[in-house]
Amino acid sequence: APTLREDYRAPDWLVPDIALGFDLDPARTVVRARLSVTRNGEHDRPLRLEGEELELLSLTVDGERREPVLEDGRLVVALGGAEAVVETEVAICPEKNSQLMGLYASGGILCTQCEAEGFRRITYFPDRPDVLSRYRVRLTADKARYPVLLANGNPVEQGEAGEGRHFAVWEDPFPKPCYLFAVVAGDLACNADRFRTMSGREVALGIWVREADLPKTALAMQALKDSMAWDERTYGREYDLDRFNIVAVSDFNFGAMENKGLNIFNTRYVLADPETATDADIDAVAAVVAHEYFHNWSGNRVTCRDWFQLSLKEGLTVFRDQSFSEDMGSPAVQRIDQVRTLRAAQFPEDAGPLAHPIRPDSYLEIANFYTATVYNKGAEVIRMMRTLLGPERYRKGTDLYFQRHDGQAVTCEDFVKAMEDASGVDLSQFRLWYSQAGTPTVRARLDQSGGRTALHLDQSVPPTPGQPAKQPMVVPLKVALIGAASGREISPERLVVLREERQVEPFANVTEPAFLSINRQFSAPVIVVAERKAGEIEALAESDTDAFARYEAGQELMQRDLLAAIGGGELRTEAVVTAVAATLRSNALDPAFKADAIALPGESLLIEKLDAADPARVHTVREAMRRAIGVGLKDDLSRAYMGTSRADPSSLSGEAKGLRRLRGATLGLLAAADAGLGRTLAARQYASARTMTERQAALMVLAMLGGEEAEAALADFYGRYESDPLVIDKWFAVQASVPAEETLDRVEVLGRHPAFTLANPNRLRALAGSFAGTPAAFHRADGRGYDWQAEIIVAADKLNPQTAARFVAPLGRWRKIEPGRAAKMRAALERILREPGLSKDVLELAGKSLG
Ligand code: ARG
Ligand code: ZN
Repeated sequence: APTLREDYRAPDWLVPDIALGFDLDPARTVVRARLSVTRNGEHDRPLRLEGEELELLSLTVDGERREPVLEDGRLVVALGGAEAVVETEVAICPEKNSQLMGLYASGGILCTQCEAEGFRRITYFPDRPDVLSRYRVRLTADKARYPVLLANGNPVEQGEAGEGRHFAVWEDPFPKPCYLFAVVAGDLACNADRFRTMSGREVALGIWVREADLPKTALAMQALKDSMAWDERTYGREYDLDRFNIVAVSDFNFGAMENKGLNIFNTRYVLADPETATDADIDAVAAVVAHEYFHNWSGNRVTCRDWFQLSLKEGLTVFRDQSFSEDMGSPAVQRIDQVRTLRAAQFPEDAGPLAHPIRPDSYLEIANFYTATVYNKGAEVIRMMRTLLGPERYRKGTDLYFQRHDGQAVTCEDFVKAMEDASGVDLSQFRLWYSQAGTPTVRARLDQSGGRTALHLDQSVPPTPGQPAKQPMVVPLKVALIGAASGREISPERLVVLREERQVEPFANVTEPAFLSINRQFSAPVIVVAERKAGEIEALAESDTDAFARYEAGQELMQRDLLAAIGGGELRTEAVVTAVAATLRSNALDPAFKADAIALPGESLLIEKLDAADPARVHTVREAMRRAIGVGLKDDLSRAYMGTSRADPSSLSGEAKGLRRLRGATLGLLAAADAGLGRTLAARQYASARTMTERQAALMVLAMLGGEEAEAALADFYGRYESDPLVIDKWFAVQASVPAEETLDRVEVLGRHPAFTLANPNRLRALAGSFAGTPAAFHRADGRGYDWQAEIIVAADKLNPQTAARFVAPLGRWRKIEPGRAAKMRAALERILREPGLSKDVLELAGKSLG
């Protein structure tokens, strides 16, 4: 039965203090827990402790042995008084823990992952985020194998434990929910540094990795120090412990985890240098380091009351890490990337069978709700509040929120209330963003008839599962008018707040025909359908004064012509070619922006815009457009391509990264137009590359063109980086991303490659995630792509349900696909659902996907 948001009840028992003892061993770890519990309110209910895959060795209450009572996995302890000391002893087996939740082994390191419900796999406990405890943790382990022993908080004691073992004791003074608990034991080397906080406290920073990886931690360390300073400057938030540790492990279900004072990361978001990580990888390292660090306030000091409130910490923290990246780089380019991610990952979620509000109402498995909706749309909702309140009142709001709720487990409602109380702005209607799913569509028409100018707006929010009818939302739209003749901003940017279903906004003193620049900077996460005058999008794509809106106009133009041709019309390319030419030739635009602006909308995005899409046709038409650009602008592209070779390979400046990005984009278009030229350039770029950005881009182009050059480069790449798992992930991903029907044959072979394993989430994502993300490969007409995907999901589910479940959603997109393929997608989902012993993770998503 699903868990419902409305069923929330405060905990019956609290656990103000807990002492834990770990006798660490990969085969059998014994965990002793001493819980000081207190009755919460007037009731006579017993203490119920969650547990999963625990071998219970003993139970005592106030020192007296008790015969354990277990009710569907829970340990039920009847208690007479208002307080008690409950002690348990359990055994667990980290090396057999393939789910990577709880205590597990990763490449010789023992580590934990407790969010959302992993702590119950370590010891019996009321595993819910509104039970906050002070932790004292004693770790004992073999000294040679596990010389480093880490836990949350501060180290208080360490020493020898006999028989080659040693121990360490850690104490965390801040009460925390058990999902923030962490321990690590391993043979780790430390990149140690310091940070002086704004009040002058010295914090010891450590990034712990395998010795050989130490040189790859410098970028993460710099990002950490930048984040600490940024949070002081921007939010007035100071770090609160004497140490801050980050540990990198290679087996990890997600990106990273914000455990108090001991963040645990997927190696992918820590280890980076320009030779083995692309610029995009490097930017992601900084963003994730910042994200986890920012959680120390937005998540840890103020945490979630229950898991329905997940967006309270995740939406806010994603918004904070996005703002950090904007401040550290180019805001417009960052915003384009953010919106691309939102459109690629969140819009389809909102438009499909898995649609849910950023604060969901029910779940079967909470791990399935770590979604783009909760995270990325959640961040857009915070951003809209900042836009509506303005930066100063927004900051007053966050100050009040952190001050009012420090040390508490609270709700999304508490956040909105703090914003309201601090700003005096009424957010009642705005709250619909928390409860209504689905991406609103806003239609816009600029009326300039009869000498007056007015913007006519209307909105509709589509029905989503369980929510047939919707109310109008608050949509903050940044709008400016651009003179059709002058190309200038004739009505400067202003904020139009759409609240009604229909609304008319007058614009005064508009004396010439105007073009509409709307949703500038993507001020609202909506789909805008604007009625366009002849030549309007073309003009905006060349001269909109907002960089983001200018990018949008270019994309709208490309999309218009692509969709018309996919729908059966003739492919018209002149307007797009002209716009791309203007972009390439501009002296005012920076290279990163150019690279984004000349990239066509992706195939997945186009499929989302269609009913009954034929993915093969989408691919053919899009390729034809790319070829037309490549042929029509060969000289411009070649010149731009050659110009990018000046990018300094040792530099990570915005300029150098932008040039490399443009290098990849122009190479791709040149190769689309002329395979021979593409091969020559890509082979040369591959061989002479001094950064992974250039090498990977060249490899991708070669792989797409196929032939001997591709095989030679792939073999070289494998040999060169064999010992670097994160780079070998790229080798898998590149091959699985080739947009062709034959890709499946290669993917099948790769699935049997000795370096492939279902047990490592990064490797699985590199193969299965890349494949499902490549429509022209995944949607083979014979449906074998779906069969392969279904088999992988079923096989992975036996080891790691959380990660297996991540690959279900692509099969759920059948509603957008033509009937022949759609039937095969449904059949694959049915096959998954018939599998005995399916996890509830996969069961929930496959069931909902089938509908
Ligand atoms: N809180 C983590 C982050 O935002 C994500 C942890 C998700 N892990 C999980 N097993 N559900 O970075
Ligand atoms: Zn997070």
